[in-house]
Amino acid sequence: MRLFISFEGVEGSGKTTQVEMLHNYLVEMRISVLKTREPGGTALGDRLRPILLEHSDAPCCPLSELFLYAAARAQLVKEVIAPALDHHTVVISDRYVDSTVAYQGYARGLDISLIERLNRSATNGCMPHLTVLLDTDPEVGLNRISSRALTLLGCGKDRLESESLHFHRQVRKGYQILADRNPDRFFVVNGRRNKEDIHQQIKHELIRRYPESFPLPIPARNAG
Ligand SMILES: Nc1ncnc2c1ncn2[C@@H]1O[C@H](COP(=O)(O)OP(=O)(O)O)[C@@H](O)[C@H]1O
Ligand SMILES: [Mg+2]
Repeated sequence: MRLFISFEGVEGSGKTTQVEMLHNYLVEMRISVLKTREPGGTALGDRLRPILLEHSDAPCCPLSELFLYAAARAQLVKEVIAPALDHHTVVISDRYVDSTVAYQGYARGLDISLIERLNRSATNGCMPHLTVLLDTDPEVGLNRISSRALTLLGCGKDRLESESLHFHRQVRKGYQILADRNPDRFFVVNGRRNKEDIHQQIKHELIRRYPESFPLPIPARNAG
């Protein structure tokens, strides 16, 4: 099956958690699956990731940031995503093109049509079939992350996580606009629900969309 699923949402909305849960479920179902993340997923992307996410004295203006994300993404599509889809491996990505529209477009204020053109070139038009948006109030997400920062001693917030609350609200709004404009591709979930609930909702959406590939579990027969 040719299936590409991306996960989107503000910091701490639960993307990495849900990617992991869906990945485990597909492995259990013996479906060939590959998970990746942005920025990263290739040798080049993994070198760009700290440049994009770590605090640094080297200024990085919004346009430079946009092009660095595009460079990482072009490599990820060519090296990882497109070949996996060609081999009928389900691809799950923790962030993809919509992150750039939400962060660099709606929150940083760069021209949305420029971003969309750049995304199209960088990905060679390779778009997710399904995008799960974990719609979450950024205050909730950032609080979850600060508890993570406290738990993992020495692991503070990264460069984007440290942006103002106003910035993250713009990101959320950007995602909501994207979901409204692409209702067939987006599946919006309330990110405040508990992890297992959200996972079940995502599974049901997959079963609803692709009943042949994700059959409903056969109910256990009553003994006697
Ligand atoms: N639905 C949820 N309810 C409560 N806490 C959650 C939920 N999903 C994830 N978390 C917790 O919130 C933190 C951030 O989750 P994570 O998956 O890393 O978010 P993201 O990848 O979107 O930044 C983690 O500590 C995670 O265990
Ligand atoms: Mg994450």
